[in-house]
Amino acid sequence: MTTDTTTTVAPTGERVLDARGVTMRFGGLTAVRDVDLHVNAGEIVGLIGPNGAGKTTFFNCLTGLYIPTEGEVRYKDKVLPPKSFKVTAAGIARTFQNIRLFGNMTVLENVLVGRHTRTKEGFWSAVLRGPGFHKAEAASRERAMELLEFIGLENKADHLARNLPYGEQRKLEIARALASEPGLLLLDEPTAGMNPQETRATEELVFAIRDKGIAVLVIEHDMRFIFNLCDRVAVLVQGEKLVEGDSATVQGDERVVAAYLGEPFENAPGDEEIAEVEAAEAHADSADTTTDAAPGKENDR
Ligand SMILES: Nc1ncnc2c1ncn2[C@@H]1O[C@H](COP(=O)(O)OP(=O)(O)O)[C@@H](O)[C@H]1O
Ligand SMILES: [Mg+2]
Repeated sequence: MTTDTTTTVAPTGERVLDARGVTMRFGGLTAVRDVDLHVNAGEIVGLIGPNGAGKTTFFNCLTGLYIPTEGEVRYKDKVLPPKSFKVTAAGIARTFQNIRLFGNMTVLENVLVGRHTRTKEGFWSAVLRGPGFHKAEAASRERAMELLEFIGLENKADHLARNLPYGEQRKLEIARALASEPGLLLLDEPTAGMNPQETRATEELVFAIRDKGIAVLVIEHDMRFIFNLCDRVAVLVQGEKLVEGDSATVQGDERVVAAYLGEPFENAPGDEEIAEVEAAEAHADSADTTTDAAPGKENDR
């Protein structure tokens, strides 16, 4: 593990990300509605919610891929520019729900591409490897190798990215994001498709990233992963933030349970059927009580 050279690490507790009133509409569809969310330095914050809740759209609003219809996003007190490369340069890095690696480039080259916002040679130089590239990039390569060591892929630096097993491709995406020396890392479903061992390893990796002074905001469906990892969890349902709090608060909130079990909310279609089922169950329960209780009472006498 290494200390990086370019990131200014915010003191613990300082607000790194501050999103206020973020709304994103696509025509008639409001994918994200008036969402406030902040991340402090030193924190790991989770963002959960059913499919289609607007989680990825919210990430896209934070990273300049989308310009929010309403609202404002600040990183370390500065309003973010509406361009993703400028957001990366400002200090926010991300991974994608669908892996976006350069499959025909090596593992090391993929990490080097991630460094282009931090080197004066720039993206095309990294891709085309023009004259003098190797010399000029010596420091970058060293740093990229350090990152590969950090995620445990240093022995595969020369492999083509597309030949890596799926779980390792996900880790490589994280290394590439870290190569931009971020102060905040956004992870969109980092354990999707991983086996339980890989998921546990990713948990450790995220803790290690936090320990390097990088705040983390993570979307994930694996609740065990989320509740083990996060200091705070926010729940998005149909584009709106339903609940936010520590693991116990969120896990104990019946609206969250309802959202995850797919139960209809109050007045939603289906209430009548549920009422019928509940009435039938109550009837069955009272019948059970009478038959069970009777012999016991007799014995007590
Ligand atoms: N570029 C887009 N154009 C139109 N609709 C979109 C676009 N991106 C996302 N959506 C819609 O926004 C909603 C939220 O999607 P998404 O953010 O991907 O949800 P999640 O990541 O929580 O599963 C969905 O209904 C999706 O179809
Ligand atoms: Mg998504």
